[in-house]
Amino acid sequence: MFFENMKKIKIQFIEQKNVIVYIDKLENFLKILNKEKFSYTKLLLITHKKLWYIYKDRFENIKSKILFLSEGEKIKSFEYFKFLCKKFLDLKVDRKYLVLIFGGGVLGDLVGFVCSTYMRGINYVQIPTTLLAMVDSSIGGKTAINFYKYKNFVGSFYQPRMIFCDTSLLKTLSEKEIYNGLGEILKYAIINKKIYNLLNFKKNFYISDDLIDSKFFKNIIFECIKTKLEIVKKDEKETKCIREQLNLGHTIAHAIESATGYRIYSHGEAVILGLIAESFLSYKLKILSDYEFERIMFLVEKYLKDKKFDKALLKISKEKIFKFIQYDKKIYQKNLRFALPIRIGEVKTVENIERSSIIKSIFFLQQWIKKR
Ligand SMILES: NC(=O)c1ccc[n+]([C@@H]2O[C@H](COP(=O)([O-])OP(=O)(O)OC[C@H]3O[C@@H](n4cnc5c(N)ncnc54)[C@H](O)[C@@H]3O)[C@@H](O)[C@H]2O)c1
Repeated sequence: MFFENMKKIKIQFIEQKNVIVYIDKLENFLKILNKEKFSYTKLLLITHKKLWYIYKDRFENIKSKILFLSEGEKIKSFEYFKFLCKKFLDLKVDRKYLVLIFGGGVLGDLVGFVCSTYMRGINYVQIPTTLLAMVDSSIGGKTAINFYKYKNFVGSFYQPRMIFCDTSLLKTLSEKEIYNGLGEILKYAIINKKIYNLLNFKKNFYISDDLIDSKFFKNIIFECIKTKLEIVKKDEKETKCIREQLNLGHTIAHAIESATGYRIYSHGEAVILGLIAESFLSYKLKILSDYEFERIMFLVEKYLKDKKFDKALLKISKEKIFKFIQYDKKIYQKNLRFALPIRIGEVKTVENIERSSIIKSIFFLQQWIKKR
C-alpha cells in the first residue's frame, strides 16, 4: 500500500529555497537526507530530554551532536535565543551545519528563529513530534519568540530545508496534545472540501494507536500539510491576505486564551471554540448558509463527542471577550477583520463586522459549552 512506504511533497518557493516534506519512518531519515543530496559537514540535533529518552534508539544510525532544551512556552524568549546562540558558538556551529529540530511547535519556533539569524541563516530540518507541529507549526516557515506579553511578536519567515513526519511518534503524545492538533485539522476541513469529506466519511473517531497507524490518519495529515503549503506558496510573507484564511477560528480563539489567562483552554481547544463561534458569526451575517453551518457543526460534534470543555468561559462576560478581540486586532491591524467560511472549501476575509454580531456569536458559543 502507498503509505506503507512513504509520501513526499516538494514545493518551490519563490523567495526562499525548495521545501520538501516527507511522511516516512524515522529509520529512513538518513537515507532520505543522502538521497536529497543535502550538503552539510555536521548534524546538530536539538530536542527535549524527555523526547530523547523515548526515541534515542530510533536515531541509532544518525551521527549527530545533541543539545537539550527545556520544555514549555517559556523557552520562546530572548533569554533562550541568546542561550542557544551562545551554545552554537561554543559548538563552533557554522553555515555548513544542518540543524535537526526534534520536537513540537515551541522548539520549532525558537530554534527556527535562531537558525534564521545565527550567521545570517543556517539550514535546518524540522522533525515534528506533535500533531499540531506536523499539520501546522512546522509548515510555512514562520519562526518566532514571544516579546513581553505578546505572542510570536519577534520572528522571521525562514523555511526549513525539509520537514520529516513520522506519524508513529504521535503514539506517545497525550490525548490533550492530540486534541490540540485536531483543532487545526478541523480548521483545514472547513478550508478544504477534500479534508471535510475524508473526515466526514469516517464512522467512528477514537484516539488510539490503531487510529495513529491507520491509512486514514496519515492521509489526513498529508492533506493538511498540502493545504497549508499551497496557501503559503501563494503568500509566502503574508502580504497578500491569502494566508489570512489560515487564521480561521483564531481571532476568537486568541481572545478566549487571553481572557482566560492561557490557563484554562489549550490552544487547540480554543481553536475549536473559535471555529464554532466564527462559523456562527458567518451564518448570522448570511455569508454561510444554514445548511453549510449545520454541516460544519455536525463534523465538529462528531469529532468532539468524547471531549469535555471547561465551563470557565461561561463565567466571563461576552463584553470582556469582545474587548480582547478588539485589543488583539488593535495591536496587529487596526480594524475588525475575520477570516470567515463562505461554504465548506472556501474562506474569505470580512471587515467592519458589527459588535452586536460578534457578541451574538460569543453567546452562541457559551450556550454550546453549557449544553455539553
Ligand atoms: N510557526 C507557526 O506557524 C506556528 C503555528 C501554530 C503554533 N505555533 C506555536 O507552536 C507552539 C505549540 O506547539 P505544540 O502544541 O507542538 O507544543 P509543544 O512544542 O510545547 O509540545 C507539547 C508537549 O508535548 C511534548 N511532546 C512533544 N512531542 C511528543 C511526543 N511525540 N511524545 C510525547 N510527548 C511529546 C513536549 O515535550 C511538550 O511538553 C506554540 O508556541 C505556538 O505559538 C507556531
